[in-house]
Amino acid sequence: MPDGSAGRFENKVALIAGGANAVEGRLMGFGGVCAWRILREGGRVVIGDIDDATGEEAVSQMQKAGFEAEYRHLDVTSESDWQEIVKLAVDSFGSLDVLINAAGTQDKESIEKTSVDDWTRTMDVTNRMMFLGTRAVAPEMRKAGGGSIVNISSMAALWSAMYASAYGASRAGMIHFTHTSAVQLGADNIRVNAVMPGWVRTPFTDHIWTDGALRESRDKRVPMGRWGTVEEIANGILFLASDEASYVSGTELLIDGATSAWLGPM
Ligand SMILES: NC(=O)c1ccc[n+]([C@@H]2O[C@H](COP(=O)([O-])OP(=O)(O)OC[C@H]3O[C@@H](n4cnc5c(N)ncnc54)[C@H](O)[C@@H]3O)[C@@H](O)[C@H]2O)c1
Repeated sequence: MPDGSAGRFENKVALIAGGANAVEGRLMGFGGVCAWRILREGGRVVIGDIDDATGEEAVSQMQKAGFEAEYRHLDVTSESDWQEIVKLAVDSFGSLDVLINAAGTQDKESIEKTSVDDWTRTMDVTNRMMFLGTRAVAPEMRKAGGGSIVNISSMAALWSAMYASAYGASRAGMIHFTHTSAVQLGADNIRVNAVMPGWVRTPFTDHIWTDGALRESRDKRVPMGRWGTVEEIANGILFLASDEASYVSGTELLIDGATSAWLGPM
């Protein structure tokens, strides 16, 4: 292992869907930070995303640092892309133990102004991802004697923003699908859990962070008075992905600085 020593992911192979934002020196997303940490803790990683240029740059950095990592184009709404990336993981590294479903996109308009295409795209990225991804990895995890799937949902699964109706509905659906998958796959020692992050600065939310007024209004809405960090969310994702959570399945971990617990300033 070129770097790090904890070994929590020793001999594990992780597939990260939507993990392209992993370029060191730039703002990273949840999938990107998880990828580096899994590598540093002894694992091997396959990243899939539609942002091929960024994903390839990140994986090239990982390989140059001496880690075992691969990148493959993955549109999470495509069944054939899922089949190909799972095959790549198994052909390259021999098994598949962890899936982190981190892709996301968001509708931005009111219900009346949202186009059918925007609604469908937002629902598909979340819901087809969790369905096709789970279906694609389950046979390989079964062969490996078990595995862990972590679905990145959102605190938006619990309560509504003014807009983003498709995003909220799809994230709530993710929680139910997490439960159903955990029930169906439990006998195969495949654990399925969800993480519900609050506001965190990533490429997904940087436009809010960099708008001073918007960022401040959210700071005030969080009982802990600040946004979370990518590392704080990755801590939860990696706990669920690792054997430390060997009896944790069919549940969701809210990591939002108590935002959802508070009715908040009106
Ligand atoms: N940042 C936050 O505050 C926050 C809060 C709650 C939930 N989330 C969720 O966390 C997840 C990760 O987001 P992030 O904040 O780390 O930002 P991110 O931008 O790093 O991750 C989203 C990734 O999804 C990819 N993607 C979009 N459509 C895709 C598709 N069809 N196929 C494959 N990949 C696709 C993007 O290219 C991007 O790399 C998302 O699902 C997001 O909804 C984020």
